[in-house]
Amino acid sequence: MAKKYVTDKIAEVRIGDQVFTLPVIEGSEGERAIDIRQLRSETGLITLDSGYMNTGSCTSEITFLDGEKSLLNYRGYAIEDLAEKCSFVEVAFLLINGKLPTNKELDGFKMLLNDHSIIHEDMVHFFDGFPSLASPMSILSSMVNGLHNFYPEMDDPKETLGLTAARLLSKVRTIAAFSYKKSKGYPLVYPRFNLSYCANFLNMMFDSPVQPYLINDVVVDALNKLLILHGDHEQNCSTATVRMVGSARVNLYSSISAGINALWGPLHGGANQSVMEMLEQILADGGNYRKFIDKAKDPNDPFRLVGFGHRVYKNHDPRSRIIKKACDDVLKSLHVEDEPLLAIAKELEEVALNDEYFVERRLYPNVDFYSGIIYRAIGIPTNMFTVMFALGRLPGWIAHWEEMWKSPDAKISRPRQIYTGPLQRKFVPMEERE
Ligand code: CMC
Repeated sequence: MAKKYVTDKIAEVRIGDQVFTLPVIEGSEGERAIDIRQLRSETGLITLDSGYMNTGSCTSEITFLDGEKSLLNYRGYAIEDLAEKCSFVEVAFLLINGKLPTNKELDGFKMLLNDHSIIHEDMVHFFDGFPSLASPMSILSSMVNGLHNFYPEMDDPKETLGLTAARLLSKVRTIAAFSYKKSKGYPLVYPRFNLSYCANFLNMMFDSPVQPYLINDVVVDALNKLLILHGDHEQNCSTATVRMVGSARVNLYSSISAGINALWGPLHGGANQSVMEMLEQILADGGNYRKFIDKAKDPNDPFRLVGFGHRVYKNHDPRSRIIKKACDDVLKSLHVEDEPLLAIAKELEEVALNDEYFVERRLYPNVDFYSGIIYRAIGIPTNMFTVMFALGRLPGWIAHWEEMWKSPDAKISRPRQIYTGPLQRKFVPMEERE
């Protein structure tokens, strides 16, 4: 373990009349864990924990979150401060390098991002091979995997990680915008050195030869916030995937491509798209949100109120509060405060927060509940919402992949199982089978 916070406490496991002791370790914010790494060799038993509800897969110095207290810190800094006072590029630097950049470091990092913002022209032709209705998430994961063939300097990741990280952060932004332009059949708009990270992305998405895109600072600020708030979230499904795939010593591009696919799922990052679809459905149904709340509460109906609930937050998701405020600001600045989906979202939140079913299960709006309304207001198509999540989550994935790769404790991820199939039996030749 990179850093091991051993305590003087031990846990005892009694199996029959034998008692085994296991060390208890403590993280820097006081969370404790029973270290079971010797359990199997000492007792012959493993632990079973579907969905990893109680299992820590690593120690990590990147992100701390306390779901009871609604706390989220990146490298020790509160998410509220970072979202208010930093740009996404600063926060990406922080997540990847473990410290906030000085002015000089930030300038150097921005220059690196500019230098690597263009993708190889041969890769631009890849977009032509996808059908026009292809999912932007599938395009993104394929293109990111393909980057390895064009920029393959991952043989010694410790030497080249800074460069590869900058390439990924910059090129994924370009790939996302190009995939949108291609899906529309519009001419591509290339990145510009004189624009900030977020302004550059918006310009690549929305500028056109017939109508130049006007940069709106409120929109740029909201996009910065959204990307920062998605920057990292410790061992969620996609980050755990990046670490797991990377643990087989797979290169960073391909590990992140796997993370993008994990993020796609509607229970994870895909939820922001599903929230929008749900709100649109409610609107089409005359705004009858109570019907949807009743459906979500019905144990015989698989429907869930998307954008509610979280594996870790059993109190407000601190990110959703910041996003709700940014949402009001953007809609006001774009003069679309009367957006009916926002009104429905607010009423739905109000009713759910006072409903016994949601209160008992401690289900609060999560990060995805309001983010889609902002994306929609700034013109991002619904099927690209999860791509935006991926753009934000990139620095977190990179930081975790590097931490895993460099950890002296790193081992290939290989969970065990309890086999429940038939006992070994005699092989039956074809002619004797019934
Ligand atoms: N609507 C209605 N009921 C819910 C919901 C919901 N959104 N979420 C959980 N429940 C109920 C669930 O039916 C269960 O009830 P019961 O105890 O009666 O069986 C109870 O709450 C606990 O749910 P769970 O599925 O055991 O909780 P989990 O920790 O395994 O799942 C979750 C977490 C996020 C997958 C789940 O809350 C969910 O499906 N939410 C909707 C999808 C969503 O918004 N996902 C985005 C998550 S935040 C972004 C990210 O980090 O990826």
